[in-house]
Formats: sequence, structure tokens, C-alpha cells
Amino acid sequence: MTRTVYVNGEYLPETEAKVSIFDRGFLFADGVYEVTSVLDGKLIDFEGHAKRLTRSLNELDMPHPVTMDELLEIHRELVKLNEIEEGLVYLQITRGADADRDFVFPSADVPATVVLFTQNKPGLADNPAAQKGIKVISIDDQRWGRRDIKTVQLLYPSMGKMMAKAQGCDDAWLVEDGYVTEGTSNNAYIVTQEGTIVTRQLSNDILHGITRAAVLRFAKEAQIKVEERPFTIEEAQNAKEAFFTSASAFVMPVVEVDGKAVGDGKVGDMVPRIREIYLEEMRKAAV
Ligand code: PDD
Repeated sequence: MTRTVYVNGEYLPETEAKVSIFDRGFLFADGVYEVTSVLDGKLIDFEGHAKRLTRSLNELDMPHPVTMDELLEIHRELVKLNEIEEGLVYLQITRGADADRDFVFPSADVPATVVLFTQNKPGLADNPAAQKGIKVISIDDQRWGRRDIKTVQLLYPSMGKMMAKAQGCDDAWLVEDGYVTEGTSNNAYIVTQEGTIVTRQLSNDILHGITRAAVLRFAKEAQIKVEERPFTIEEAQNAKEAFFTSASAFVMPVVEVDGKAVGDGKVGDMVPRIREIYLEEMRKAAV
């Protein structure tokens, strides 16, 4: 089945979809994005992603080319057309294509580029990695200072994943001034020996994860203590459990950090419990 994608108001086969070579997303990474997961053919936390998208556009003085109602409609239509039961919807909005390459932002009458496509991922919620846990390395956080804006500048995160792969690991946690900021494409957490969840507080240093917000809410409801503060790699290595969250991986246990086992090196009790609560509650609230 050829995938149907959305480009600037049209639903097209992916082979016919076109974006200008002058698009500022392509030339300057002048664009923002969202990734929303689909379970049981429904969108997980669409509202959270739509709100963060609005914030990203505002922070970059970008126009809002589609209303949130229209966006929901487009997401749903793509899920339906591509028969997605489990998978992802990727959305990207760029500042559009000016007549030529120019660092200066184009005038407001240049239309934004809006692209959406689906990724079919059967078994997304039953990812075997969630049973086994994953291994991370730590690397220097060399990204720009506005990581709270979900821009498409993903070269360094991409390089980070390659560095992890080269060391036989699955992902990298980024470290700045001795403390973990977040993962290459996820938020990072530890569970202390006392059973407290620790994750870095919100600021411009990290992306304000939509999964993070939900997980912290569910943890508090389950009477689990949460501390929002930075932690070190050493603390992670000495923690009882560790994990990360993202819209595509949900809640993922981390069992090794820089070659050192976290706890006994096996998936613990708390992380699978949080994952289960998250999936159950989010499935119920899906649209
Ligand atoms: N990444 N931090 C970074 C740097 C991210 O790129 C992401 C998401 C997160 C988690 O945010 P959320 O829970 O809203 O997905 C944190 C997406 C999934 C991606 O780039 O594919």
C-alpha cells in the first residue's frame, strides 16, 4: 500500500509529494515538529502535542498556518487513509520557501510549509526492548540553548545515536556541566534506592516532554515521590532503576549507563509499573 501523506492542504501518495529546494526547513532547519503516537487507531495525547506545537511556533515568531481543529482532522484522516493501528504521526511546519536563499526571515505573506506523514509500527506498545531494557552512553551536550523549542535541528541527536551504536549501545544521554540534561530524543529519569523518581526540572535546557508531563502526573497520583532536579551519570549508575520517556517509546527502562549496570542490570519493578499505568491511562484518553 502506498503511503498517503499531507502537504500544504493536499493528501497525496508519498511519491508525488513535493517541497521546494528553497524551503527554510531544508536550508536553515527553520522549522518545528511533533511526533504523536497512535494506539488502537487513536491519537495519544493529541492535545499536549498541539499545545507544545503552538508554543514552538510562538517562540520562533512563526505563523500558525492551521488551526488545532484542522490539525486534529488531518491527523485522523492520515491514520484512517493509511490504516494505522499502532504507529506514529509526524508533523512538520517550516517558515516556508522564499524566492531565494536568505538568512533574513521572509515576509509574512510567504506561506508556511505543512507536512504530515504516518509511520506504521505494529507492536509499538509491545516493544521487546521494554522487557529487556536498553543501554545508554553519556556524551557532551553540544546542542543549542533553546532545547525547549521542538525544532528540526536534529543533527547532534542523530550523531549521538550513532556514537551509542558504535559502542554497542542503544542511545545516549547528554551531559552539560556534569549533569544529565536529557536523552537524544527523550527525557531521562532515575529511581533512587529510596524509590523516588528524579528527573531534570523544566527550563530551556530540555524539551518539555509530553510523555514526561503525563508520567509525572501518574506517578504523583500513585503516591510515588518525584523530585525535579538535575542528576549526574554517577547517580544514575548507582540508582535502583533508570528510564526514559518519549512519544515513540513511551516509558523505556535503562539497564546500563556507560558500561555500568543500573541496579542488578535487569529491569526493575517500578519502571514496568509506570509504563503499564501510562499505556493504560493514555489508551483510555486517546482520541
Ligand atoms: N522526540 N527530549 C527530546 C530531545 C526529544 O526529541 C523528545 C521527543 C523528548 C520527549 O518528548 P515527548 O514525550 O513529547 O515525545 C524529549 C521525538 C519522539 C522524536 O524526535 O522522534
